[in-house]
Amino acid sequence: MAVILEARDLVKRYPLGEAEVDALRGVSLAVEQGEFVAIMGASGSGKSTMLHLLGGLDLPTSGEVVIDGISISALDEEHRTLTRRAKTGFVFQFFNLIPLLSVGENVALPFLIAGDPASRHRERIAELLALVGLVDKADHRPDQLSAGEQQRVALARALATKPAILLADEPTGNLDYTTGTEILDLLWDSADRLGQTIILVTHDARAAAYADRVLVVRDGEIRDEIALGRRKDHEARPLIRRLAELGL
Ligand SMILES: Nc1ncnc2c1ncn2[C@@H]1O[C@H](COP(=O)(O)OP(=O)(O)O)[C@@H](O)[C@H]1O
Ligand SMILES: [Mg+2]
Repeated sequence: MAVILEARDLVKRYPLGEAEVDALRGVSLAVEQGEFVAIMGASGSGKSTMLHLLGGLDLPTSGEVVIDGISISALDEEHRTLTRRAKTGFVFQFFNLIPLLSVGENVALPFLIAGDPASRHRERIAELLALVGLVDKADHRPDQLSAGEQQRVALARALATKPAILLADEPTGNLDYTTGTEILDLLWDSADRLGQTIILVTHDARAAAYADRVLVVRDGEIRDEIALGRRKDHEARPLIRRLAELGL
């Protein structure tokens, strides 16, 4: 399989008053097309920093990120933004929907931002709403939806342009068990049925257990890697057992 995302020796140092924080201390990884990878670690271990760098939302202090053959770290800001829009979709913990836009308009946002009228994408938007089970909510405002429904809108929006990579940062972190499971099932289905490449950041073993492979992050480094393979059951126990064996 082809490598769709590659990170080489990523270091991220944040200024913090007079001092500095080493959020990432040399992270390298390669993700193949169609893979579902989870990045797991405790709060403060560097997961969000890593995801932001991998998706081109932020730049490393040193190191390189290559998305679909394009070295984004070498691009100027404008080209990095364009590449990010073309190649990635993001889902966040707090949904980040636009409150004044309808569900349908929120899903169409990536097209609008690219200066491409939503009217040209009616079919695609209907398809996305069907994918996340919200066809009958197209004209609702985000605040008329439950948290789980809002996250499904965010997921549909992230998938709108068929991005090479979907990046999700604690997408179930603000959801209860049942709605969290709905989102994880949707992520897994898009990996399995659509061949979507996914990178999921989570501190939760139950969520990470949906992935084909789990990278365990600690203090800004990838400490371990656990291969789970693609499984229809998303049983977390094998992962929890492996984590315990590793002393995590
Ligand atoms: N913008 C920032 N400025 C300073 N320090 C930051 C910034 N963002 C993150 N950090 C620090 O970097 C480390 C990793 O943070 P983060 O990537 O958010 O971890 P995680 O997502 O695993 O909780 C933490 O020590 C955090 O406090
Ligand atoms: Mg985080």
